[in-house]
Amino acid sequence: MYQKGVKHLCDNGLTQVPNKYILPEPDRPHSLVVDGCIDLPVIDFAQLQGANRPRVLESIARACQEFGFFQLINHSIGDETIGKMIDVSTRFFELPFEERQRYMSSDLHAPVRYGTSFNQNNDQVFCWRDFLKLSCQPMQDFASFWPSSPLDLREAVGVYSTKTRQLYETMMEAILESLGVMNNSAIYEGGNQLMMVNWYPACPQPQLTLGLPPHSDYSLLTLLLQDQVAGLQIQHNGKWVTVKPVPNSFVVNIGDQFEILSNGRYKSVVHRVAVNSERSRLSVASLHSLDINQNVTPSAILIDDSNPRLYRDTNFADFLDYISSSDFKCKRFLESRKL
Ligand code: SIN
Ligand code: FE2
Repeated sequence: MYQKGVKHLCDNGLTQVPNKYILPEPDRPHSLVVDGCIDLPVIDFAQLQGANRPRVLESIARACQEFGFFQLINHSIGDETIGKMIDVSTRFFELPFEERQRYMSSDLHAPVRYGTSFNQNNDQVFCWRDFLKLSCQPMQDFASFWPSSPLDLREAVGVYSTKTRQLYETMMEAILESLGVMNNSAIYEGGNQLMMVNWYPACPQPQLTLGLPPHSDYSLLTLLLQDQVAGLQIQHNGKWVTVKPVPNSFVVNIGDQFEILSNGRYKSVVHRVAVNSERSRLSVASLHSLDINQNVTPSAILIDDSNPRLYRDTNFADFLDYISSSDFKCKRFLESRKL
């Protein structure tokens, strides 16, 4: 029954967290949490386009080294596009269960997948999340698989994913430039774009469970939209800190593929999601990666005698093998790729 998801459980009048979701004591959200929120470094996209570019690139470099995360403001994706994406996603999760169920699949490769927990095929303890995963790139191959209900979902996802894709390319150009890796559009043109729409229902006992367990993203870069409900926590200086939501901004984070590409210079930082008893939370993560069979390799210009190569080549197929075969909460894919 847990495979039907947490929204389904909550809609049936839950007052206690079932055992399946209760984490062992040391893994519960209170461990190491700093009380309160942090402000991530803020990068002003509009400033990046002008005379201040060199200064903004320095701020990007610092943010990627120290936090692995930053908040992107003035990013040119209009409030209307963002509002529509949040609205249509919320309406998808409000559809009757039978309608959402049509997209359920345990196949990690499925282009559209409605599911629950982190990896419901493997998780010992389930987490408090339902999700809709949509493959987006190339769009003409995938759009016809996207849910046909709500009626305006395909259009909203089409517009939103196209605009986030453009923003991703512009940000990759800047982040690579901040590393001194120039003229490298081949790294980010084409490639894979996945949209994870996450729904974390309000939880009767949020101290016992997590919306997502600690993980790092397997991507080059992730562009995350969160609504006004806090929940994302990142590991910083050995502590968990909560990222304060900033309206209509994106949380941008470095993924494992980028850490490898940068030979460890920019960090793919472990993060997780806490839930709360008051409000449900929605987030939309746009994960941008290399093509499924394309290898990521540390950039040659970042390797020298004092900076030896840190990672072996890897690709998405290795990652899928990894998540199918291990307990994600304890290990990190990146560790397994270290030389
Ligand atoms: C994620 O880590 O993929 C989602 C984070 C969030 O919901 O804030
Ligand atoms: Fe993530």
